Amino acid sequence: MSETAKIILEGKEYELPVIQGSEGEKAIDISNLRGLSGYITLDPGYKNTGATTSTITFLDGELGVLRHRGYSIEDLAEHCSFIEVTYLLLHGELPTAQQLADFESKITEHTLVNEGLEGMFKAFPTGSHPMGQLSSMISALSLFYPKSLNPHRGEEAINRTVLRLLAKMPTICAMIYKKRLGHPIVYPNNRLDYVTNYLNMTFGQVSDPDYTPDPVIVRAMNKLLILHADHEQNCSASTVRVVGSSQSNLYSSISAGINALWGPLHGGANQEVLEMLELIKEDGGDVTKFINKAKDKNDPFRLMGFGHRVYKNFDPRAKIIKKAADEVLEKLGVNDPVLEIAKKLEEVALNDPYFIDRKLFPNVDFYSGIIYRALGFPTDFFTVLFALGRLPGWISQWQEMRRDKEPIARPRQIYTGEPPRAFVPMDQRK
Ligand code: SDX
Repeated sequence: MSETAKIILEGKEYELPVIQGSEGEKAIDISNLRGLSGYITLDPGYKNTGATTSTITFLDGELGVLRHRGYSIEDLAEHCSFIEVTYLLLHGELPTAQQLADFESKITEHTLVNEGLEGMFKAFPTGSHPMGQLSSMISALSLFYPKSLNPHRGEEAINRTVLRLLAKMPTICAMIYKKRLGHPIVYPNNRLDYVTNYLNMTFGQVSDPDYTPDPVIVRAMNKLLILHADHEQNCSASTVRVVGSSQSNLYSSISAGINALWGPLHGGANQEVLEMLELIKEDGGDVTKFINKAKDKNDPFRLMGFGHRVYKNFDPRAKIIKKAADEVLEKLGVNDPVLEIAKKLEEVALNDPYFIDRKLFPNVDFYSGIIYRALGFPTDFFTVLFALGRLPGWISQWQEMRRDKEPIARPRQIYTGEPPRAFVPMDQRK
């Protein structure tokens, strides 16, 4: 673009290039600002700062639009399987039937995990949080595949690590679920598709070889995983990119992403939403009381599942999940009172000036937990399911960062501490 941005600093004018993305987004390229002017920019939380250019996901927060490689989230959630969207994120195109079959077949070669990994569960305290277990197990994969530590291995070796991660993540998630129940693990069944295999390892029993997951649950799980697959430069994806930018291996980069996702302001919100809804139910179901708490600056209570750094309109994923929640609970014959509380909470909040003025709408986490619970998952397991869905997005972002040969991430700062001062020996300190 020929457009430029001019800034005047201490009477001197600087002209900076403006770049425009394929969807019309514009940015001032400040790559040379410090070299030209000695100035940096400051933007805590990077609310106004682009870290990269990317071809993976586009979202428009004002319009509530989300697309992956140009395809709308509505179309992908309606017509695809999760492994199909995984292929799209990684390769940039929807797969042909043959490409998808080959992709799934390659994944089945790596679904088992080294039996040594099972030993790690002996170290985890009983009932410890599954996200801490998951990030530990994924990081530990780098110990079982030491060649993955070499950052200069070729694409083929990297692709093998990608397939290993995609294949072993469901197996490890299911192992964590089984071990917390004290049940024997169910090994992968490579004759099943990706999501059915995951549900079979989770809810199947070694004593019931004929178990097959309910097709309603399989379809709902595919849709939920698709809705969590990628979301451009969110906190955990940025973490994966930052860790990967130091040439750390993919396993450790993904483990870091899992830990970032764990936070209650990010992926951990789906657990917090259910706990909040349960609290409101136990308290008598007075949603207005909790809306007022959320508005009270002196009260730390926040309406979990509401608000978003980017969406200042409905999160399109929340709309799809809300519709799916009604369908799944009806098909499974589940009557969950917290669904009605959630709907009441949403209705009151969306008509309250505090939420309207701040453009706070339900986000992806507001309804997802209700479905996860109907599918049989415990509340503190919900964020593991978010991570399972987000894995292909994290991997795609990591691969793009590597292929674009991005430099190590190293933000600047403005120092506001003590000026230089003379050292004070121990015996003179007060
Ligand atoms: C995810 O980035 C992504 O794409 C994330 C994600 C993904 O797919 O990767 O979409 C997944 O993380 C969804 C978000 C899940 N988190 C929650 O539901 C937690 C509750 N929501 C928030 O804490 C908050 O809305 C954030 C963290 C999501 C966004 O925070 P921002 O952008 O930093 O906004 P802010 O905290 O500055 O809030 C702006 C105003 C403030 O009030 P004022 O100071 O202007 O008076 O809105 C208020 C906030 O107090 N506010 C809320 C609120 N969220 C914001 N008030 C009450 N309840 C809330 N939930």
